Amino acid sequence: MSHTTIATLMQMKKEGEKITMLTSYDASFTRVLEAAGVDSILVGDSLGMVIQGQESTLPVSVDDMVYHTRCVARGRRDALLIADMPFMSYSSADQALSTAGRLMKDGGAHMVKLEGGSMQLETVRQLTLNGIPVCAHLGLQPQSVHKLGGYRVQGKDEESAREIKEDAMALESAGAQMLVLECVPKALAAEISHLLTIPVIGIGAGVDCDGQVLVVYDMLGITSGRRPRFVKDFMPESGSVPAAVAAYVQAVKEKRFPTEEHSFQ
Ligand code: KIV
Repeated sequence: MSHTTIATLMQMKKEGEKITMLTSYDASFTRVLEAAGVDSILVGDSLGMVIQGQESTLPVSVDDMVYHTRCVARGRRDALLIADMPFMSYSSADQALSTAGRLMKDGGAHMVKLEGGSMQLETVRQLTLNGIPVCAHLGLQPQSVHKLGGYRVQGKDEESAREIKEDAMALESAGAQMLVLECVPKALAAEISHLLTIPVIGIGAGVDCDGQVLVVYDMLGITSGRRPRFVKDFMPESGSVPAAVAAYVQAVKEKRFPTEEHSFQ
C-alpha cells in the first residue's frame, strides 16, 4: 500500500495537482476521509470548538491533542497525518520539542503544525534539526484571536501583506515543509504559493493555493453559529457524509472549490 508523504505532496505541487486536506478528530471520520482519498488529515486544535464546545482553541491541552491524534491514527491508512501544537505548548524551542515529541511518539503524527511568523523561526529550525516535519500557519492565527481582536481577514493592506510574504519565505528557509494560509486575500495567497517551493494549503485563501483545507464539520453543514464566508456545505448536493467528503475532494481537485464566493479580494 502506498502512503502519502511530504515528498508526495511536494511532487503534487510540482505537477499542479491540488492537495486535499480535511480535519478529523476520531477514527470513524478518518476512515470516511480515507475512503474518499483525502491526501492529508489535520487533527486541528479546532477540536476545542467543534468537539469540546469551547469559545476558542485556547483551552485545548497537549493531552487533548495526543488523545485525538491517537484516535485518528487508528483510522488512518494512507493520508499524511498532521497534528496541531496547541496554544502555549511551543513558547520555547525546548517546549516545542517536548510537545512535538509527544504528538509523534504517543499520537502517531507525521508532522506538527504551529502558528506564527518570524518569532517561530528558531523553533522551526530546532524541530527540523531533530527530524520533526513542521507545517507553519500564517494569516489568521486563531490562537491569537484576542490579540487580533476577532477572526478577521489578514494581509489586506500593503504592509501586512508584505509581512506575511516575508514570514512565509523565512519559515520555508528555516525548514518548514508546508504552510497553511488562513483568511488572506486571494491574490496574496496566489503570490505566496508561487514564491514557495513547499505546498501552501489555503483556508479562505482562494483557489490558487496548492491545496485546500476545511474543518470537516463545517463542510458537512454542522457549523455552530455563523458560517464563515470561506466554508461550503457539501451536504445538500450529496446526501450522505461519505458522498459529501467525496464531493469536496473532487471539487478541490478540479479547482471548482473555492469559488470567488468563498474567497476574499
Ligand atoms: O485547527 C484547525 O482545524 C486548523 C485549520 C482550520 C487550518 O488550524
